[in-house]
Amino acid sequence: MDFNVSVEELQTRFTNLKKKYAQLQREKFSLDISRGKPCAEQLDIAMPLLTTINGYEFDKPDYRNYGFMDGIPELKKVFADVFQVSPDNVFLGGCSSLNLMYDVLSKAWCFGVLGGTPWCKLPKVKFICPVPGYDRHFSILEQFGIEMISVPMKDDGPDMDLIEDLVANDIYVKGIFCVPRFSNPTGIVFSDEVVRRLATMKTAAVDFRIFWDNAYCVHALYPDAPALANIFTIPDAVVDRVYMFASTSKITFSSGGTCCMVTSDKNYASLKKMFSIQTINFDKINQLEHALFLKDASNVAAIMEKHAQILRPKFEAVLSVFEQGFAGNKYVSWTKPKGGYFITLTVMNGTAKKVVEMCKRVGLTLTDAGATHPLHIDDLDSTIRIAPSYATLEDIIQACKVLVTVVDFAICEQLLS
Ligand SMILES: Cc1ncc(COP(=O)(O)O)c(C=O)c1O
Repeated sequence: MDFNVSVEELQTRFTNLKKKYAQLQREKFSLDISRGKPCAEQLDIAMPLLTTINGYEFDKPDYRNYGFMDGIPELKKVFADVFQVSPDNVFLGGCSSLNLMYDVLSKAWCFGVLGGTPWCKLPKVKFICPVPGYDRHFSILEQFGIEMISVPMKDDGPDMDLIEDLVANDIYVKGIFCVPRFSNPTGIVFSDEVVRRLATMKTAAVDFRIFWDNAYCVHALYPDAPALANIFTIPDAVVDRVYMFASTSKITFSSGGTCCMVTSDKNYASLKKMFSIQTINFDKINQLEHALFLKDASNVAAIMEKHAQILRPKFEAVLSVFEQGFAGNKYVSWTKPKGGYFITLTVMNGTAKKVVEMCKRVGLTLTDAGATHPLHIDDLDSTIRIAPSYATLEDIIQACKVLVTVVDFAICEQLLS
């Protein structure tokens, strides 16, 4: 809808939109595009994983017993193949990468990084948060009382000029959370130049760390999706700067899969020592099942193509409803990701909260407005995260049509006021 019209025309449209919304209220939907969960059909892809272990000869080593705190070599090899790193730098965790991130941050907080002052003993600790970003990263930082510095996300990654300036001059800026490939929620991929600048920039804090949350590392929807530079092979990179995390939550089973951290030799040795006190080992049977099922990078790519076949039509349905519904609407824009789990819809400033609330009232659940920003404060009140993976194709189409009506309603209302 083009809103470049007279006030009278706007009033007529608003009256019609009110009628349309009243009709939606009568229809009583139950639609949910709020969380990035795989659908049942996707989870079915990994069902053979549960039988890979049948008849397996637990000889030597016997993975049914204690040991191998940092993971079994068979699965380290698979992740090493996917990320093109040495298996010696691949630490295997339990069933959640978020849990691993939380643990690594807690260790920095309680015990410090490579002999540095524990962060809890500092007068303040700050992290850079590219926005919009992943709500659970922000929740971790909030829980520790870490000050979050928002830095806007551009089409090729976070604003590096701003970041370089912040980290160079403040010893309390200790880290950054990034989702570098198919970012949550915009779906953008960090350019080679952004990766290079992050890996090599000068930081006032020697214990500055990048939490490189590569959650969507192999989650391309199209063969021409942009690749991500390997942050571990950047010339002149600061060697101990990066903790990379990944999991199989969206490859096999969500929170029932397995996860890893890749980091430098020194970080690895230090963290391994600390984790050895926390646990004897993680679930190695699960790790073995994953190694047998995933096999190697090319088999992982084949598995991910099966996921893409299910997800592509859903993403395309969202884009198609938006293209038609928002044609000519200068107040709305959206991302068109080539992978990952999310699309970001940017609505007229000051209307995102209203849109999410109005959708809820007609039975459509969206991610809370503000969730994509630290402390749930989206200053512009304009970002809405769309997660098309879980719902059926029909529900997604229906949900997006409802959303278009509500967004138009909110724009009309705001323009008239
Ligand atoms: C960016 C990002 N990181 C981490 C996670 C959670 O990963 P895991 O299931 O391995 O804890 C998600 C889940 O949506 C995510 O979007």
